[in-house]
Amino acid sequence: MTAPLGVYVHWPFCRSKCPYCDFNSHVRDGVEQSRWRNALLRELDHAAREAPDRRVESLFFGGGTPSLMDPETVAHLISRTRALWDTAPDLEITLEANPTSVEAGRFAALAQAGVNRVSLGLQALDGAALSFLGREHSVDEALAALATARTHFARHSFDLIYARPGQTPAAWAEELERALALAGEHLSLYQLTIERGTRFFVDHARGAFELPPEEEGAEMFEHTQARLAAAGLPAYEISNHARPGAACRHNLIYWRYQDYVGIGPGAHGRFAEGSGKRATRRASGPEAWLEAVEARGHGTAETSRIEGQDMVEEALMVGLRLADGIDRATFAASTGRDPVEAIGPARLAPLVAAGFLETGPNHLAATAAGRQRLNAVLERLIA
Ligand SMILES: C[S@@+](CC[C@H](N)C(=O)[O-])C[C@H]1O[C@@H](n2cnc3c(N)ncnc32)[C@H](O)[C@@H]1O
Ligand code: SF4
Repeated sequence: MTAPLGVYVHWPFCRSKCPYCDFNSHVRDGVEQSRWRNALLRELDHAAREAPDRRVESLFFGGGTPSLMDPETVAHLISRTRALWDTAPDLEITLEANPTSVEAGRFAALAQAGVNRVSLGLQALDGAALSFLGREHSVDEALAALATARTHFARHSFDLIYARPGQTPAAWAEELERALALAGEHLSLYQLTIERGTRFFVDHARGAFELPPEEEGAEMFEHTQARLAAAGLPAYEISNHARPGAACRHNLIYWRYQDYVGIGPGAHGRFAEGSGKRATRRASGPEAWLEAVEARGHGTAETSRIEGQDMVEEALMVGLRLADGIDRATFAASTGRDPVEAIGPARLAPLVAAGFLETGPNHLAATAAGRQRLNAVLERLIA
């Protein structure tokens, strides 16, 4: 069987920079779409040389704001992907979109280009919260974009950020009910984190706002898990919820430590090479990346091999995010080690006894309580 592959395309531009966001996203006056199209196509050709002879199961346009890409560029990248690799008959083609009216106006063309799944960044269903988050859309505009998305895409999801300053567990519970009434097959619900290098980091450090107390954040997370499970959209990962069979296949590729290539500024790739994996990272700066691709056909800034213990640790870090956890046989096939043996009883037993991890003959998983504090769990698992 041909090994499955995910293809990630990074579009690094946004209309404005949101104060909480540390993604590789930049605001530029004008973007030469045809130049960017040619460069992305060239790097896609390069990626097919890096990881040939695979079957592509997912193509994901992320950002930044890929809903600002010319639909024609998206169409070219989709058809080139199909030409370069074998593709699954039900190839998942996702695009992240901001819910402004301008972008909703392009959904028909993006669907025409072949996109079959959209992930909309609604972020909040409350006007004051949207202003605080620096968003360029109102609640009504976002709901209209969601309605438009529903008419054009068989599969859609939206993102919300909770545990915002001043948000009580009761207020979040109420917002979550409204979200459920609007939800399709998938929801991404993230607890607000303060990331270094963002405006919120500076504002938070000088006391301009406070996050809800930790116990309230935990209460909101626990309520989210229970309520969505009851509503038929259980968590399949820390922040991602889906109806049965509706998980985002692209994200599953990451978390199952399967192979993917990444193109565009700052994109990462991980794909099998001999007994290990090849890790690639493209140049982050949009202009540096563009010039590199035009000069030599790819913008790779770094490439390394991941083997042995490093590969075991990476696979644990991603696999324990999943509610189903890690399939021990699949893990052993890709890393060469059984995860339970690799961790060893001295590290594993206390975490199992504390109710943060569970093991079986076929699997190793973090419990809901373990996923809630996964970083702390991983610190104890990994030397
Ligand atoms: C690549 S970004 C979003 C794509 C799109 N540009 C948008 O803003 O809708 C993916 C998602 O991560 C979430 N996110 C980004 N920064 C976050 C933060 N500091 N805390 C919580 N969630 C965050 C947001 O929900 C966002 O929609
Ligand atoms: S959240 Fe989305 S729109 Fe805002 S800066 Fe980040 S990538 Fe851009």
